[in-house]
Amino acid sequence: MKLIIMGPPGSGKGTVSERLEKEFNLLHVSPGELLREEVAKGTTIGKEIKRFIESGELVPDKFVAEMVKLEVKGKDNYILDGFPRSLGQAKSIEELKIDKVIYLDVSEDEVIKRLAGRRVCERGTHGYHITFLKPKKEGICDVDGSKLVQRKDDNPRVIKQRFKVFHEQTEAARKFYEKKKILVKVDASKEPEKVWELVNKVIKEMKK
Ligand code: AP5
Ligand code: MG
Repeated sequence: MKLIIMGPPGSGKGTVSERLEKEFNLLHVSPGELLREEVAKGTTIGKEIKRFIESGELVPDKFVAEMVKLEVKGKDNYILDGFPRSLGQAKSIEELKIDKVIYLDVSEDEVIKRLAGRRVCERGTHGYHITFLKPKKEGICDVDGSKLVQRKDDNPRVIKQRFKVFHEQTEAARKFYEKKKILVKVDASKEPEKVWELVNKVIKEMKK
């Protein structure tokens, strides 16, 4: 099963993908996370891409598309979380033959609340919310025990820019998959468990 999870910043792509990974044993590929790891390691590429991430711009396709293709090479069961984000990126992975695009539909007002309260583990792999999705022990990751922190790009100025980029570039990728009739919209404004039920329903339908 080859899935794309698409949606505005903070719509719950990472949260839904983590659950899909766990329940259906799918490989979770998040370019955002891979790119942040690169920045944290301070590699040559990391130094080049830091400014894009921290200003809320898309990292140039030459870094992202190749990185994603390498991750999924020879594999058949995966989730692309936050990729593609432009028409160019969508066209660049036509050969992967994606089965379904799940679009998390939620208003900008709602996601701003979510991003303000988001916390992630030190590696940035596991996500929580101070009100909506609390860890078992305050400030500590349930999975790896590390301290929970805020993401650098979760500040009002950068969030605004991430939205601008989403409207200007990612909407075109959404329309591309809508035309292909493989995109399903899910109401992502509901609480996490409810959103999961809706996503799970889509997967069950696919397996019929
Ligand atoms: P990326 O890391 O992908 O950021 P994003 O798209 O802005 O999305 P987020 O990760 O912020 O949100 P999410 O949808 O995963 O929501 P989450 O589950 O965490 O990308 C970052 C940057 O990397 C980009 O700006 C760009 O520079 C670069 N990049 C990435 N991909 C790229 C690409 N393809 N091309 C070029 N550059 C790229 O949830 C958010 C919060 O809400 C959490 O606190 C969570 O606990 C909570 N929450 C989740 N679901 C619910 C719910 N149903 N109700 C209430 N709260 C909820
Ligand atoms: Mg994410």
